[in-house]
Amino acid sequence: MSDALQAGLTKATIATAERHLFLCIGPDCCAPADAEVVWEHIKRRVRETGLRAMRTKAQCFRICTGGPWLVVYPEGVWYGAMSVERFERVLSEHLLGGKPVAEWVVAVNALSRNDADDFLP
Ligand code: FES
Repeated sequence: MSDALQAGLTKATIATAERHLFLCIGPDCCAPADAEVVWEHIKRRVRETGLRAMRTKAQCFRICTGGPWLVVYPEGVWYGAMSVERFERVLSEHLLGGKPVAEWVVAVNALSRNDADDFLP
């Protein structure tokens, strides 16, 4: 493995992350400019809280209404209409507290698999 690849994997926190957050930033489910504000807030708050979470900006989950959509793995919890204010509650109750904000959960699919070891070298 090259040093550059190892550095990238380390920077992405692949080996240490406990969660992966995806935020759709539009353009059809929400106004991209508004979603960018939420995205920047998520990045800052993940950093500030020391949350062991990867975060990825997405551009369409094919829902295309009711966004910005935030998906939290490994739980596979989908939240719509994400905002700075709503993320603060998701952060407190779900990401730090371990309990999803039930009234905002639109869908759940954890994509559970038990055969991940089969793919490891
Ligand atoms: S643009 Fe966000 S789900 Fe399609």
